[in-house]
Amino acid sequence: MKIVCLGGGPAGLYFAISMKLHDPSHQVTVVERNRPDDTFGWGVVLSDETLENLRRNDAVSARAIKESFAYWDYIDVRIHGRSLRSGGHGFCGIGRKKLLNILQDRAAELGVEMVFQTEVEGVEAYADADLIVASDGINSKTRERYADVFQREIDIRKNKFIWLGTHRKFDDAFTFTFKHTDHGWIWAHAYQFDTDTATFIVECSEATWAGLGFDAMDQDVTIAALEKLLADDLGGHALMSNARHLRGSAWLNFPRVLCGKWSHGNIVLMGDAAHTAHFSIGSGTKLVMEDAIQLAEFLHVEPSLEAAFDRYEDERRVEVLRLQSTARNSTEWFEDIERYVDLDPVQFTYGLLTRSQRVSHENLRLRDKYWLEMAEAWFEEQATGRQPFSPRPPMFTPFELRGLRLENRVVVSPMDQCSARDGTPDKWHLVHYGSRSLGGAALVYTEMTCVSPEGRITPGCTGMYAPEHEAAWREVVDFVHANGTAKFAIQLGHSGPKGSTKLMWDGMDEPLVEGNWPVMGPSPVPWSPENQVPHEMTRADMEQVTQQFVRAAEMSARAGFDVLELHYAHGYLLSAFVTPVTNKRTDEYGGSLENRMRYPIELFHAVRAVWPDDKPISVRISSHDWVGDAGIQPQDAVGIAEMLNAEGVDIVDVSAG
Ligand SMILES: Cc1cc2nc3c(=O)[nH]c(=O)nc-3n(C[C@H](O)[C@H](O)[C@H](O)COP(=O)(O)OP(=O)(O)OC[C@H]3O[C@@H](n4cnc5c(N)ncnc54)[C@H](O)[C@@H]3O)c2cc1C
Ligand SMILES: Cc1cc2nc3c(=O)[nH]c(=O)nc-3n(C[C@H](O)[C@H](O)[C@H](O)COP(=O)(O)O)c2cc1C
Repeated sequence: MKIVCLGGGPAGLYFAISMKLHDPSHQVTVVERNRPDDTFGWGVVLSDETLENLRRNDAVSARAIKESFAYWDYIDVRIHGRSLRSGGHGFCGIGRKKLLNILQDRAAELGVEMVFQTEVEGVEAYADADLIVASDGINSKTRERYADVFQREIDIRKNKFIWLGTHRKFDDAFTFTFKHTDHGWIWAHAYQFDTDTATFIVECSEATWAGLGFDAMDQDVTIAALEKLLADDLGGHALMSNARHLRGSAWLNFPRVLCGKWSHGNIVLMGDAAHTAHFSIGSGTKLVMEDAIQLAEFLHVEPSLEAAFDRYEDERRVEVLRLQSTARNSTEWFEDIERYVDLDPVQFTYGLLTRSQRVSHENLRLRDKYWLEMAEAWFEEQATGRQPFSPRPPMFTPFELRGLRLENRVVVSPMDQCSARDGTPDKWHLVHYGSRSLGGAALVYTEMTCVSPEGRITPGCTGMYAPEHEAAWREVVDFVHANGTAKFAIQLGHSGPKGSTKLMWDGMDEPLVEGNWPVMGPSPVPWSPENQVPHEMTRADMEQVTQQFVRAAEMSARAGFDVLELHYAHGYLLSAFVTPVTNKRTDEYGGSLENRMRYPIELFHAVRAVWPDDKPISVRISSHDWVGDAGIQPQDAVGIAEMLNAEGVDIVDVSAG
């Protein structure tokens, strides 16, 4: 086969090596625009698992790579003048230049032709090749040329980062260091990759970056400013850039690249050209080299180029999506960092270590039992005011609020059963909630229980508006209290524009076939084109609904519930006031968030006035309306939660939407 790899980074070189190992008669050329010794970037990290994959594929280059590794086991987190060290993280780093030189030498040894200092302008120049590998990196010209065919999506992430190096030693720990400035937080991800050099990636939000004036600085001024700002962490050492080819300051926004298709004719995408994974999980090079191993193998076991491409794409896509999802969690954690920086350094570090959701609580125990026990003891002391003799995981620590004490922090979410007749809970509910309460969770929620017949979602919803409802709920509450330690919360709601719909298994959120009742909302905006147009609520309607909630709260208190939750989420009446999507009012109950929250807050105070003082009230909100900028998004939800907290709401129960 005549093969050309466009781009001589880890992907192109390692694929060339792998093909030669399968069959030395392949004619393989790697075309690279830089010189063999040029390098942009500093170190990369590879895990032990990746190294084992490399060893199985080519023991010779794997040995050379292993000999050049810097190993470390600890992660240090420096924030608020404290430094917390945890172990068991097992990384190894290698200089990018060193890695490329090892791969170049090995490729040469196997007879790969390498053409340096040659810019690839297009695939036409390689018309005689049987296979063209687009391994030309994150800004791949080949991918961009056929962007539609490859169904390329690029998501430019929010934070700014700059990839620098330093001779300051970080030789025993991967170090995250966080610094507060007048314009927000800035931090570095630092790790050693050879005996005297470390990668030092600095990251911050766009607002901090602009506030600190980096938008107006060239590379040299940027570096001088960072050296001054992070002098404590650099211990007097300089920062170095090797991105002189980039115009401007060399600050970048990370592009998350996704491709719906990875091949076109005899052209195949590989490595960063096909997909990227954020640098904060350090798996970019792993993905790239494993792409190369697998494509080379499939080309030798599948009957045609097309079959090999199909299998390559099928198998690699799953692995890539898995890592990209982990990487996205990590990326977003750093983008949302202002939410976490004021936490105690122990809690902050715990969040950082588990941010990608790849490392769980118990996995941390395997990595560093002592660190985790210290964190558990810290948490338990916060929860109980006492230093524990043998600490428990946070999930199993008690929780107290007003007069409520929960044995642990496991809560059963509200889940509509659609099984009531005329609002009255029956034996189904007794068995359902009774068995949930015996399962070990400390708090069990009822489904959304409606404050009036027309406030029901479906004819199967439970209610709290008739004497028989109170009596039937009392029976369930008594069972829960008599047979275990679980506490019982009632969720009260009004369906508003999303009411008068079928039982969920007959057609979720679809209007009834017959017997629909009129629905109401803040404005005459239907929840979907299929749903009824609601009647715009008057002041009198609002007053009436408030009284219905008050009545239901009084009944719930008499029935013995321990917690009351108001349902302000999921498009029902109160959330229809909160979101600008369905609240188009021009009076004091519409417009700004403050106005849209006015009625939900008035209603909360009316309920609070009749709900026993020693029992908490929780409010459920949607953190996302899933309609883009037009609706509520997580940042708005933070504002909503802050307002509720300021009004005296005890718990904000945040639903994804
Ligand atoms: C800040 C940062 C930190 C990172 N840290 C890590 C880490 O710790 N661990 C890790 O595994 N990964 C890390 N990565 C990612 C890693 O560097 C990439 O995933 C990896 O280099 C991709 O390999 P590649 O061969 O696909 O592309 P590249 O390494 O980008 O190679 C592409 C090559 O193609 C050449 N080229 C491009 N266009 C042309 C053209 N038109 N003509 C000729 N040649 C061309 C380029 O010069 C380049 O040599 C990091 C990335 C960044 C940005
Ligand atoms: C069958 C079913 C019924 C549900 N009923 C309710 C409900 O009555 N009240 C409520 O607030 N959430 C209800 N939910 C949402 C869940 O409580 C829970 O929030 C959701 O499944 C988890 O996702 P989230 O992150 O969006 O909250 C229901 C979910 C399901 C699957």
